[in-house]
Formats: sequence, structure tokens, C-alpha cells
Amino acid sequence: MMRTHRAGDLRPADVGGEVALCGWVAARRDHGGVVFLDLRDAAGIVQVVVDPSRPDLEVAHRVRDEYVLRIEGRVRRRPEGTVNPDLATGEVEVAVERLEVVAEAAPLPFPLDVADDVEEALRLRHRYLDLRRERLQRNLRLRATVNSAIRRAMEDQGFVEVETPMLIASTPEGARDFVVPSRLHPGRFYALPQSPQLFKQLLMVAGLDRYYQIARCLRDEDLRADRQFEFMQLDAEMSFAEPEDVMAAIDRVVIAAVEAVTGESPRPFGRITWHEAMERYGTDKPDVRFGMELVDLGEVFAHTGFRAFQAPAVKGIRCPGAGDASRSRLDQLTERAKELGAAGLVWMRVEDGGALASPVAKFLSEAEQLGVVDAMGARTGDLLLLVAGERAVANHVLGVLRLELGRPPVNEGGLHFLWVVDFPLFEGLGEDGRPVPAHHPFTMPHPDDLHRLDRHDGTGADLLEVRARAYDLVLNGWELGSGSVRIHEPEVQERVFSLLGISAEAARARFGFLLEAFRYGAPPHAGFAFGIDRLVALLAGEENIREVIAFPKTQSGVDPMTGAPGEVDPAALRELGVTVLSPPRP
Ligand code: AMO
Repeated sequence: MMRTHRAGDLRPADVGGEVALCGWVAARRDHGGVVFLDLRDAAGIVQVVVDPSRPDLEVAHRVRDEYVLRIEGRVRRRPEGTVNPDLATGEVEVAVERLEVVAEAAPLPFPLDVADDVEEALRLRHRYLDLRRERLQRNLRLRATVNSAIRRAMEDQGFVEVETPMLIASTPEGARDFVVPSRLHPGRFYALPQSPQLFKQLLMVAGLDRYYQIARCLRDEDLRADRQFEFMQLDAEMSFAEPEDVMAAIDRVVIAAVEAVTGESPRPFGRITWHEAMERYGTDKPDVRFGMELVDLGEVFAHTGFRAFQAPAVKGIRCPGAGDASRSRLDQLTERAKELGAAGLVWMRVEDGGALASPVAKFLSEAEQLGVVDAMGARTGDLLLLVAGERAVANHVLGVLRLELGRPPVNEGGLHFLWVVDFPLFEGLGEDGRPVPAHHPFTMPHPDDLHRLDRHDGTGADLLEVRARAYDLVLNGWELGSGSVRIHEPEVQERVFSLLGISAEAARARFGFLLEAFRYGAPPHAGFAFGIDRLVALLAGEENIREVIAFPKTQSGVDPMTGAPGEVDPAALRELGVTVLSPPRP
């Protein structure tokens, strides 16, 4: 038998027992006569002691960090005064009777106990060492717990797991495709799925009724703390379902995942319309863990003589107690606001008795000054930041400043889930003047707004009023997932394609299979997908999803361990019919 116990599981109840343990040397204290080793395995760490009388002492002297050992010995209580309250095994130790080196370890490229400070590329180059650390071990196990809770909750609700293909034609989700050249069809390419969107809709046409998949998705987009090229979604679709049905089903899965990890139910999920989210938080993914909401000062300045405030919108945020910000800090904030698109930023310090100290105070009437203090609930010592301009710009700028100035660290304030509903169908107009879908192009417009799709005025402006039957789930300011009722009538789908500038011909070429499928009895359907990496990161208290992915890419999209992306043998390229125009940099 290799081992009788796991090192990290030993407790006072095991005292007196003979055990065999296997594990890594996490630390070694060699006192010449006696050697202490911290032996680590998947369950944790236990101290093992090689006493001077043991013939194995020689072996113990030569042991180094991260050697793999097998030991036999007897569990004993640690002597008085040497109990380690930081270790679950801290009341006991194992007196070694036999010690065997199973595998030696070369000197480590970085010490595991300070790896957080080590350069990312080096950590990822030796990810198998990085993963030995408690924090990452905990994250991967937490992730497995989440996956298993998700599966159970989906199955309990009658969802059927179906796997969809990885080599497909493009599914537009707003990112670039990763493509794979075809050997059998030189000059042709598969796209890797940005999501299983179209397949899950076809599964509804196929009568599956309720589909789910823990799906790998691939998107060639710039990497950020909450974005990797490859990521996992809980992907779901339901036939004959309304948004409320989908949201209820997703609530159950997410709650199950949170309970499995924390042992507690999350607080009830909030709900807010997209419009209200933009007005109060300046973003469609509000972090509601803290206040500093955007305040509309339109009424206060309705008749103002101050030119800068004679704008479509004047809005502000209150930074409690930040009135002592230095001039250079305020200049920085002003620069930042301009960078974000504002014409300027007006700051006001709230002084004793509610007086406002501000470069613009002299342009404001007393009633206006009182009005600001009152509307914003300002107190002595606060800093007020105001932006005037187009409503969308003021909201955006203040929304970003609010986060930059007030957002708590990821692991503070608990979990605040929020459904954002009543999204618009289009989030704006692109450079070509065409509407840009707020979700993907398969999202059902609100039935009362369908007529607007045809009778818009040509500028596209009134298209922005069209509501969608779409909803997002937000957690602590991260977009966790999104979904919608889908278009299931080919005519509506064709109209939306045409608004997006996809000609009938192009639509037939790219999505003909979908339009055709809809002609054979398509049930109304709706669905959702949320990012598992993001959920796990927030549950683990991590700022970057990389910390909950076993083998992630660096910020620049490479894997320093395997060397991906790598070069391909010229012969293989010839076979694929691919010519490389720009040779890779070394
Ligand atoms: P969407 O594009 O919003 O919707 O994606 C759903 C969720 O997937 C996660 N996500 C990512 N996570 C990590 N890295 C990325 N690069 C990345 N991109 C997206 C986010 C996001 O909210 N087919 C639709 C869903 C539907 O309508 O049913 C879709 O993919 O958490």
C-alpha cells in the first residue's frame, strides 16, 4: 500500500497509529541532529520528524524542497508549546520510522510561498508548480464544486446535456473568430464557436425542449481581467418559455452553485431596467455593493445662467469624505473625465454649513448651490463631481469615475446579483451609421416595437428606441451572463439582418440553415449563458479569471509553457493550402 492516510487529514484522534504518507516537501528545518519536514499532499500539510536515532537521518539531510517522499511512522501529539494553530494538523506530528525518496526535485524556478510576486510568464511557464500552491488548489477545487452543482441543478430542472461541435461555421457574438484551416478542403476554414448559440436554437427546433451544456467558447478579443480567449459558459435554452421562466431557472442554478461553495444562500437577486441602470450607475452592469449613485441635477440647473450647465443633462456623484482631495488629484480626475469623453469636470468641496468651494461656485446662484447640496445629500467634507453634456456621455463618464473612486476590492461586500432587464435591441450606431446589436442578432425585439424596424426615419436614431426581450445577470459589477427571447420567425430574422447591413444574400449564405430550420415548425424559445470562469473568480475572491483557470493564457495571449501559438511545419501548411505572409517574430 502506498499510503494509509492523506497527510493533511491527520488529527489528534490518529495519535498512536502507524501511518504511511506520500507527498511533497513543503519546507525543511534541518537542526543537524533532528530534521523537521512539512509534508504536503492534496489534503494539506503535516509535520514529520526524523529523530537523531533513526537510520534514515542521512536520507533526511539530503532531502530538498519539493522532493516527493514516502514515509512510514507513528502519529504523536506535538510537545507542549509547539502546537501550530495555523495548521489543521497542528496538534500532531509524525515520528518517522522509514523515509524513502520517491522522486527528487530540481531547484525551483521560483519559491512557491511568494509566487504571487513572481512574474506571470514565469509562473505560467511552470504552471504545474504554480498550481501546487494552496490558493490555486483551492480555486480549482472550488471550480469543480461549481461545475458539479450546476450540472445537478440543471438536471433537476429537466435540462438535457447536449454537446455541440467545435469545428463550425461562424457564430457572431461580437468578437473575431479563431479559425482552423481544412486539409480536405484547402482554402476553406472552420471557425471555433464563440458560443453554441445557433446549435442550441436548432436543438429547440429539434424538440429537445430544454438544453444545457457546460460549453467551451472561443473568442479572439483583447484579454482583460475578466476575459480569456477560451472560457466556459453554462449555456441553456428553453422552448415555450418566457424571460421569467429562463431567469427563474438560472436563479436556481446560480443559487445552487453559491450554496455549494459558501454553504449559504445568496441575498435575493435584485432587478433593474437597463434604462434605470444607465441613469443611476452609468453602466449596464452596475456594481451595487456601494452607493455613489449618479444624481440627476437637471431640475436644479433648469434655468441656470451658467453656460456649461445649459446642457441636455447635468449629473453628479458624491464622494463621501473626499473633500480633502489635493488640487493635483482633482486635475487628474478632470483629465480622466475628458479622456472618457466629457467636455470637462466640475468639482465642488462641501464646506461647513453646506457652502460649496468650487472654481464655478461664483457662476451659480445661491438656490442652485443649495439645490445641489440637497439633491446629492451632500455633507461637510464630501467631494462632488459634476458632468454636463449629452446624457449618455454624462452617464458613462460618471459611471466610470464612480467605479474608479469607490469600487471595493473583489472579496468585500458579499455577492450582489442583479438582473438587468428591458435592454434596447441596439446599443448605438456604428461608424457606418448602422445599428450595433446590444446582444447578438438573434434577439427578439419587443413585440410593441416591431413596427419601428420598418418605419424608422433612416438616421437610425429611432431604432435605438427599439426594446429587446433581453436580460443580463450582473454580479458585483461584472457581466455574469446574458440571454434573450430569440427570433423564431424567419421574416423577423431577415428584417433584423437587413437592418444590421447583412444582405439577404449574405444572410442566406451564412445563416441559411437557421432560416430554413425556422420554416419547419420552430417553437418560440429563449435562453441564457453565463460565464463560469467569472462566477468562480468572484466566488473565490479573485480579481482575474486567470486565477481560476488551470492553464490560462498570458495577457498577450500566449502559453509560455507549451509555446502556443507555435509555428507549423511548412509541409503541413502546404497540405492545408496555407501561405504565411508575415513570418513570426522570434
Ligand atoms: P455573451 O456573449 O454575453 O452571450 O456571453 C455570455 C457570458 O460568457 C462570458 N464571457 C466570457 N468569459 C470569459 N472570457 C471571455 N472572453 C468571455 N466572453 C464572454 C461572460 C458573458 O456574460 N450566446 C449568448 C448567450 C445567450 O444569448 O444565450 C452569449 O454567448 O460571463
